[in-house]
Amino acid sequence: MNRRQFLQAGSEVASGILLLKSSAAFGYQANSAVRHGLLGCGNRGTAVATSFSQSTSARVVALADLFADQLAAGKDHFDKLNASLGGHPIDSKLLFRGPHAFEQLAGSKDVDLIQISTPPFFHVQHLEAAVASGKHVYCEKPVGIDVQQAQHALEIAKRVKSTQSVDVGFQCRSAPPIAAIAEKIKGGALGKIATISGNYNAPASTEKTHPGASADEYRLRNWLWDRALSGDILVEQNIHIIDLCNWMVGAHPLKATATGGRNVLTHFGDCWDNYEVDFTYPGDVHFTFASTQFGTDNTFDAGLKLFGASGSATVPYAGPIQITGANAWAWKDSASAAPGSGTFAANGNFSDNLAFADRDKERTFLASITSGPVHNQIAEGVETALSCMLGRMAGYQRREVSWEDLLAHGESYQLGFSLEQFA
Ligand SMILES: NC(=O)c1ccc[n+]([C@@H]2O[C@H](COP(=O)([O-])OP(=O)(O)OC[C@H]3O[C@@H](n4cnc5c(N)ncnc54)[C@H](O)[C@@H]3O)[C@@H](O)[C@H]2O)c1
Repeated sequence: MNRRQFLQAGSEVASGILLLKSSAAFGYQANSAVRHGLLGCGNRGTAVATSFSQSTSARVVALADLFADQLAAGKDHFDKLNASLGGHPIDSKLLFRGPHAFEQLAGSKDVDLIQISTPPFFHVQHLEAAVASGKHVYCEKPVGIDVQQAQHALEIAKRVKSTQSVDVGFQCRSAPPIAAIAEKIKGGALGKIATISGNYNAPASTEKTHPGASADEYRLRNWLWDRALSGDILVEQNIHIIDLCNWMVGAHPLKATATGGRNVLTHFGDCWDNYEVDFTYPGDVHFTFASTQFGTDNTFDAGLKLFGASGSATVPYAGPIQITGANAWAWKDSASAAPGSGTFAANGNFSDNLAFADRDKERTFLASITSGPVHNQIAEGVETALSCMLGRMAGYQRREVSWEDLLAHGESYQLGFSLEQFA
């Protein structure tokens, strides 16, 4: 049995442990499901909620979305999934549609856990309602698309109750090979870290056409390419690599310079399709990061390299995860994929080194709910989001931006229209 088969086989054992522990401190009876409400029934939301149901004791009982077609597709999907797991269809009373759906879901007494998988612009507003409800929360990254939202999220973080668990969707940290190499790096395996490089080279997602949609609806449906709704590619997607860097170094960047632009993409939106950022971390450690997001070639290459006095570490999404030098080490199962040979997954369900990232992230979160100790990952989520905003501001303004400059600037993006038209 290789390591991957072992990890796969471990899933039943792990969920058994979870159920045994679940009788305890947080009021869930042994074998009773955590009642899961999904806010944002799109690509990622559906994938994560499905994975929760398949990997943990959580069961989807409620759905919320701005748009009726998305809600209907979600109901169809989760009714089938629940049936396959011996459960019930979703009660029509627990289907919430429209601009106030997030508040109705938060107000429901039939839900224990809210998963926020709406476009990034709405995360902090939805997080505020979910935290105020006292329910557990799984919030997708980024925690905020601008400085004002990020600072608001820090206030929300202070209101999280001692019985509430709140996770942010940085599942890469939970991928077994990445968790293993991070532990070694944090333990000093590289000696003094001198410099870091990283990249995120991905294809463009297809523009979603909606004949007859108003300009506002079209923006919402294609939020990925809209700066205000997504935060741009550095804040929305590249954030995973910048988060890994912050986490492994144990700090956020102090300043950044950057370039980039929209050199190839011609379709809807105002997001850039490439960034080149030089982040400076404490100790004058530079992290040079480059990203591209265009084209139809599905080849995907993302990862991080850290160079230290005693050795270097390679942390790709696909390809060998290893440390060379004085403390040489390699994750045994990742040699099969060639470096840079990954396949892009718009819903975040990556294979290769990330194959078990979602599953292990969700199990750890569920264990925090059923057995404790609870999580509150909002501040860490904000720190990484702000790190990305630092690079974005340096790029847009073509100047060096410090952490203090960024916070003092207090940037704020506006939607420019009301969601009430979708009531
Ligand atoms: N962690 C990862 O690897 C990963 C991967 C992909 C996406 N994401 C994140 O997941 C989130 C969702 O991305 P997606 O690809 O599923 O997008 P999507 O467009 O497929 O789904 C978004 C859903 O939210 C709904 N929605 C939009 N505005 C809403 C509102 N105000 N209230 C309620 N519902 C609303 C939409 O109708 C849609 O059903 C984003 O924040 C994205 O950054 C994370």
